[in-house]
Amino acid sequence: MASYPTLSIFIASSLLILSSFSNGKTPPKPKAFTFPIWKDDTTNQYYTTIQFGSNATTLNVGVDLGGKLLWFNSPEYFSAADSFRPTRCGTKQCKIADGIGCVFCFLSPPAPRCTNNTCSDYALNPFTGNEDYSGIGTDVLRVGSTRRAQYKVNNFPFKYAHDALLEGLATNLVGLIGLARTRVSLPAHLSSAFKIREKFTLCLPSSGANGSMIIGETAYIKPFQQISKSIRTTPLLRNPVSINGNEVIGNLTIQYFIGVKSIRVGETPLVLNQTLLSINKRTGEGGTSIRTVRAYTSLHKSIYAALVNEFVKAAAAKNIKRVASVAPFGACFDSKTISSTKAGPDVPTVDFVLQSKSVYWRFYGWNTMVRAGDGVMCLAFVEGQPNLSGPTTSIFVGGYQMENHLLEFDMAAEKLGFSSSLLLRDTSCNQFRAA
Ligand SMILES: *[C@@H]1O[C@H](CO)[C@@H](O)[C@H](O)[C@H]1NC(C)=O
Ligand SMILES: *[C@@H]1O[C@H](CO)[C@@H](O)[C@H](O)[C@H]1NC(C)=O
Ligand SMILES: *[C@@H]1O[C@H](CO)[C@@H](O)[C@H](O)[C@H]1NC(C)=O
Ligand SMILES: *[C@@H]1O[C@H](CO)[C@@H](O)[C@H](O)[C@H]1NC(C)=O
Ligand SMILES: *[C@@H]1O[C@H](CO)[C@@H](O)[C@H](O)[C@H]1NC(C)=O
Ligand SMILES: *[C@@H]1O[C@H](CO)[C@@H](O)[C@H](O)[C@H]1NC(C)=O
Repeated sequence: MASYPTLSIFIASSLLILSSFSNGKTPPKPKAFTFPIWKDDTTNQYYTTIQFGSNATTLNVGVDLGGKLLWFNSPEYFSAADSFRPTRCGTKQCKIADGIGCVFCFLSPPAPRCTNNTCSDYALNPFTGNEDYSGIGTDVLRVGSTRRAQYKVNNFPFKYAHDALLEGLATNLVGLIGLARTRVSLPAHLSSAFKIREKFTLCLPSSGANGSMIIGETAYIKPFQQISKSIRTTPLLRNPVSINGNEVIGNLTIQYFIGVKSIRVGETPLVLNQTLLSINKRTGEGGTSIRTVRAYTSLHKSIYAALVNEFVKAAAAKNIKRVASVAPFGACFDSKTISSTKAGPDVPTVDFVLQSKSVYWRFYGWNTMVRAGDGVMCLAFVEGQPNLSGPTTSIFVGGYQMENHLLEFDMAAEKLGFSSSLLLRDTSCNQFRAA
């Protein structure tokens, strides 16, 4: 597949229809859009709700930081897909979507309408590794701005997938919405369509609470405005190697990587194989990617072993009693021997040290300990499975570690901003709003 020169014509020409306010006034040009985020407790999947198509069908879709574009399967949408438009092969839209082939009617793709010469691509379910090949199209997405007006975005790119691809998703989800570094992801499309900064802030909720995602740039309510001013930043890195295929390998260039240089437990740095921490520019191996489709941070076998070893030692020094491990976790403890703090169980902190020793992402008990049965809490990190978490990337920062942190993905500046645990500031993602 070729890569193409910058083509912003398609998105720029997307017609924007501003819906009227109920009082008949035209809403102002939006600066940012807001999306609710929930967590499904059975699967630990994070999802949002969108309204899509001419009938504004409500769809619950998983949030995939590394996902290329929106894909779903919904009979309810299908039966009312009046404004669906297939994307034709050889068009600018097809190039922007980076489609990899052409489907014809006789192949009976599961598209709302049977069209020849349809630009097509793979969609990936990162929970199972299953893929599906079908046509790309566009339809109307309704989005809520932070000023509470609703906007319609025409020509929003997506892929109507086979229902088999839903296997492995939480029962109320009908697909996934991609936030990756493509030109057809949700942030990329809204940014081009409304000429807003290509940036989004993710605040993942913990179980039983609500979180939010804000796309664009806006002020937040107190105390989030203050918190965002004291946010630390680290460069967003690109993995130059993309290997086509399923997510087991994935197109890594579209994922968000950060440069973890070392890991500390308390003040003690782990002794790690440095080769694993950096991205090999030739093979694409190594490095640290951030994925909302991983429940817990997974670490290369040798990094995981070093973490468990040091954490168990540091916990013992705090008189925390180790008990039998509960899969998939490698270190579990008697919760009666753990006291609690504002930021969760009082356990040794885990730091991901970034570009310098003074820039680190610190995980407190709320983000490092998970209940795994009666009276048992486990270290909420797992060993990377070569074929589930990718054979090449050493660390996947997972959802549990991101919960109740403000994470600002600023693609324009190629930076990730991260707050410390919001619990230390007596708040949580449940309260996060635009001003
Ligand atoms: C569109 O939505 C309306 C109102 O919810 C519903 O009555 C109608 O059946 C829907 N149309 C289709 C084709 O599903
Ligand atoms: C699609 O192409 C096939 C083969 O050329 C043709 O037989 C069929 O009529 C076309 N279908 C439509 C809907 O254009
Ligand atoms: C989360 O949102 C739902 C629906 O919007 C609401 O009913 C519920 O009270 C909220 N939960 C919390 C903890 O705020
Ligand atoms: C990977 O994604 C990038 C960005 O969308 C694209 O330019 C490149 O062609 C893709 N490569 C493969 C092999 O899929
Ligand atoms: C460090 O990791 C690299 C990449 O997996 C491996 O080739 C090398 O042998 C490792 N070095 C040591 C000392 O284990
Ligand atoms: C990993 O791959 C092996 C061999 O292909 C397979 O037997 C195993 O079930 C896979 N494990 C997971 C967790 O997918």
